[in-house]
Amino acid sequence: MDLFSAIDTEPVRKHMEELATELDRLNHEYYMNDRSLVSDEEFDRMMRELQDLERQYPELASPLSPTKRVGGEVNKSFRQVAHRLPMLSLGNTYSIEEIEEFEARTRKLLDGEQFTYTCELKYDGVAIGLTYRHGLLVQAVTRGNGSVGDDITTNAKTIPTIPLRLHGDFPDDFEARGEVVYPFDAFEAMNRQREADGYEPFANPRNAASGSLKLQDSAECAKRKLMFCMYFMMAPDGVELKPTHFGRLEWARQMGFKVQPYIKECKDIDEIKAFIDYWDQARWELPYGIDGIVIKVNQTALWDKLGLTAKSPRWAIAYKFKAERVSTPLESISYQVGRTGVITPVANLSPVWLGGTTVRRATLVNADFIAKMGICKGDNLLIEKGGEIIPKVVGVDMEKRVEGAMPIQYITRCPECGTELVRIEGEAGHYCPNSDGCHPQIIGRLEHFVSRKAMAIDTLGPERLELLYGAGLVRNVADIYDLRREQLIGLGADAAASIQDKGADNMLAAIEASKQVPFERVVYALGIRYVGEVGAKKLARYFKNIDALMNAPEEELAQVEDVGEVTAHAISEWFAKAEHRTVVERLRSAGLQMEATVHQGDDKLAGLTIVVSGVFDRFSRDEIKADIEKHGGKVSGSISGKTNYLLAGDKMGPEKLKKAEKLGVKIISEEDYLKMVE
Ligand code: IVH
Repeated sequence: MDLFSAIDTEPVRKHMEELATELDRLNHEYYMNDRSLVSDEEFDRMMRELQDLERQYPELASPLSPTKRVGGEVNKSFRQVAHRLPMLSLGNTYSIEEIEEFEARTRKLLDGEQFTYTCELKYDGVAIGLTYRHGLLVQAVTRGNGSVGDDITTNAKTIPTIPLRLHGDFPDDFEARGEVVYPFDAFEAMNRQREADGYEPFANPRNAASGSLKLQDSAECAKRKLMFCMYFMMAPDGVELKPTHFGRLEWARQMGFKVQPYIKECKDIDEIKAFIDYWDQARWELPYGIDGIVIKVNQTALWDKLGLTAKSPRWAIAYKFKAERVSTPLESISYQVGRTGVITPVANLSPVWLGGTTVRRATLVNADFIAKMGICKGDNLLIEKGGEIIPKVVGVDMEKRVEGAMPIQYITRCPECGTELVRIEGEAGHYCPNSDGCHPQIIGRLEHFVSRKAMAIDTLGPERLELLYGAGLVRNVADIYDLRREQLIGLGADAAASIQDKGADNMLAAIEASKQVPFERVVYALGIRYVGEVGAKKLARYFKNIDALMNAPEEELAQVEDVGEVTAHAISEWFAKAEHRTVVERLRSAGLQMEATVHQGDDKLAGLTIVVSGVFDRFSRDEIKADIEKHGGKVSGSISGKTNYLLAGDKMGPEKLKKAEKLGVKIISEEDYLKMVE
């Protein structure tokens, strides 16, 4: 840099700093104090001005500039980093008696000491740790397994309630821990948008928060309107903090963190219980989800005295609220027809707010379920969600049952094609037997056939399949391989959306490529009832080719590992149908893989069960698993007494290691493994 430009940039640098300071202050007032000091336009104008200057003078841009809040940097991968101080979890309970026991035990252990408790909200989100040095945010890491987490600093900077620079007086080096939560209104709005854009909505605010922190594009994360609530401060040895947890959080608030205003110092069990009772009700008025109350010993000097159990401190405990239950009117029942013809009744409910989402539908499983619950027309149903994703019908709200209510009459005909339903003996579900004439079954089978784990023809989405079906080009899966280019071009509702040259070529190329999909996936793709991915693999290995499988007697099918009698029966019924055999023959002539690729004959790992953990140099995880199987070994997901080896890569989970050591399972490296199979 020459002398002139050095002189020139100084006023620019100063102006940029002023803009940054002002934007930080406005952000803080807006998000922490609910105060809007300037109009949105003015705020945006200043932000744009700073962004422009940063583009012009990149050497003057600060990594903690408020422009980072808008995002824009792309996360290639999230680096794994070890926590300086482990991120512990808390012992938790649903029972007030156990809270009483915790209090009594703590008092006893702290015999004669003067102390108090803090009670605070237990946020239902994602735990992260923020490292600050000299008042500047240097790193944000997810909890991960407690020892190692993902570096999500870039995305964390987009969260307005995470201070990038601290105010006033602060420790030189410390970590602020807290929870990233997704406020309900922002969550609902985002999910509605997702649905409108054709994406699967997130199941709940916690999952959505977690997914958002792992977004590749930080500008996307900025749009998510996440919130960080700080609940814990810790520092390496030698750094002085305040003597109480309460005092530390007060202090953190002054530094610029969002700390819950509801934290309360309690002196005895009665005050603790009153706090719990209050929030058990009041939690529904909060703008974000909480799933319990955390009780901590307030005087931090006593923490060492109380110590830790295996994975959680003895000076704190979490009380978890019971599963939330609501009652809501049953408006109607829809009957869905699956690809195998199974009918699933679904309750259409009057929309009701439950555990962070609006519930509109819940499965009624099958006719037996409806009968067992005694559901009548016009009933109100009790819906529960136990911190989990899927709402469940747990009963009828009998207090609201009207006199003379009539039991639900289950349908007798298929809602799609009108065919009389059948019920197989010993099974609870009803089926539509019209497999070749019932629209959702036909489309469902096609969708299954092309799906990722089956033939993986990803250019054939549901809309395309409908189009091909509607045009009479594809009635069953074998027709896919007869498609010709000239039939495809111009197909579609209107000219703009119709299939053009390139679309047709891509489609045909994907169809052609699917002919290389291995036999086991072809077996899965056929869509035989009860034959899942694993079952298909076992069948393919056992029978080795389609002819052996097709002609196997039911008793032999049932001998295959993971294939029970019911599945064996379904398989032999499926192949007994002439039209299915025709489809198989057409697929064979089209060139699909109808034989298992014989593995290299050696059984070097026969009889050995191996658990794989971590990442490897020469193989991806799936490759190494396939390699073990190729050599006749068995891969298992968890370590037990039956495990022979733990094949350990880099960044292996510490739990697995501990367990292997405890059970005396031999731990081998990738090198060791290669020697074994060479
Ligand atoms: S304190 C050593 N306080 O609950 C104590 N945790 O198992 C560290 N959580 O994963 C935790 N709200 O993410 C604490 N007010 C709160 C909390 C809280 C939510 C989460 C935390 C942790 C889990 C406890």
